[in-house]
Amino acid sequence: MAAARVPLSLYVHWPYCSFLCKFCAFSKARVPSQGVDHERITNALLKELRTCLAPHKDKELRSIYFGGGTPSLSLPRNIERIISEANKLVPLAPGAEVTLESNPTLAEVTKMRDFKLAGVNRYSIGIQTLNDDSLRKMGRLHTGAEGLAAVDRAKALFPGRVTFDMIFGFESQTLRQWQEELKTALDHADRHLSIYQLTVEPGTPLFRDQRAQRVVLPSDDVQARMYEMTVDMCLARGFRHYEVSSYASHPSAESMHNKGYWRGQQWVGIGPSAHSRFTDPTNRQRISSVRIPDTQRWAQQCERAGHGTGKEFVVSDAEAKQEAVVFGLRMLEGISDEGFMGVSGGQSLTGYLCMARVQHYIDEGHLSWHAPTACLAPTERGLQVIDTILLEIIP
Ligand SMILES: C[S@@+](CC[C@H](N)C(=O)[O-])C[C@H]1O[C@@H](n2cnc3c(N)ncnc32)[C@H](O)[C@@H]1O
Ligand code: SF4
Repeated sequence: MAAARVPLSLYVHWPYCSFLCKFCAFSKARVPSQGVDHERITNALLKELRTCLAPHKDKELRSIYFGGGTPSLSLPRNIERIISEANKLVPLAPGAEVTLESNPTLAEVTKMRDFKLAGVNRYSIGIQTLNDDSLRKMGRLHTGAEGLAAVDRAKALFPGRVTFDMIFGFESQTLRQWQEELKTALDHADRHLSIYQLTVEPGTPLFRDQRAQRVVLPSDDVQARMYEMTVDMCLARGFRHYEVSSYASHPSAESMHNKGYWRGQQWVGIGPSAHSRFTDPTNRQRISSVRIPDTQRWAQQCERAGHGTGKEFVVSDAEAKQEAVVFGLRMLEGISDEGFMGVSGGQSLTGYLCMARVQHYIDEGHLSWHAPTACLAPTERGLQVIDTILLEIIP
């Protein structure tokens, strides 16, 4: 019997947005006034794809994720070219997940069917909030009603394969308002939701507004209660909280692509600012790389050298072990000793972690150790404070 192919994921970064949200620290730029040079960006992506997937021919692609920025601003025929070229280089596994992130503005909603014909089979929509005032203040060019209409349209085209993003903790939002909003969101949800607590990212306009006291966000206590309410309401509607910000009403709806990251699987990222993480097939070294963030410079280097890699380095054993725990414990399934030993060169979780602190958190009901599968996992309560726990259990 032929050996199973090693799984690989592909991330494709689209660098433009039609508006820039005050809270967003992702790598992106506003669509240039002269418009996007679609042909140039796509050709650069295709060049980078050929160069960077070539060493991985013996693997299989389990997922492709078009993220951004706002990839729904790209042209469906170019998305098709990228999917088809990727499949020629590294075969797409049967049932591979192909996700595209989108904004719910009319221009993008009308392209949804063409994205499906291009090969996208999972649709992710950035709704953020249903409150029109918050949307406007954050700089977004759509209403809550348009957001919900986009979800309904997507459900008709991608039944069972639609997810959308919500954020809680906006300025002057009350617990009661978030409850109402989430109820409506759940009424419209398909089988997956991502729900984030608003993070004030350094360098964003929101960060500057908060520092200058032009905005006052809900207190930490209110935000903690919003989080707890979110988990409870989702659970009551059958959505399992499988990762810090991710909820699915069926295991098959969980994001295959994101789980690949959290489980430490290999991925190649193309496009400006995209990260990659893979094992070099020639020398078995773990490689981390990041592409040049500036779109023009990235495209020029792709045209000249076949890839827009900015930095590339070998991941040390210490970094690999730390990452395995940090990402693994974001998921309710946790991390298995067997999986950890795969990256640690045979060291067990109990040999690596500060076990006195682990035991403390087990006693407090924040972590659990499942002996039959030798698996360490956060409990629901633990997931809420996982960042603090990680600081204490990792040496
Ligand atoms: C790369 S963005 C892309 C999606 C798409 N461009 C959009 O905005 O609809 C991915 C998601 O990250 C979340 N996000 C971005 N900045 C955030 C922040 N500061 N706090 C919480 N969530 C954030 C939003 O929910 C957003 O939809
Ligand atoms: S949240 Fe989405 S639309 Fe807004 S700036 Fe970030 S990537 Fe662009």
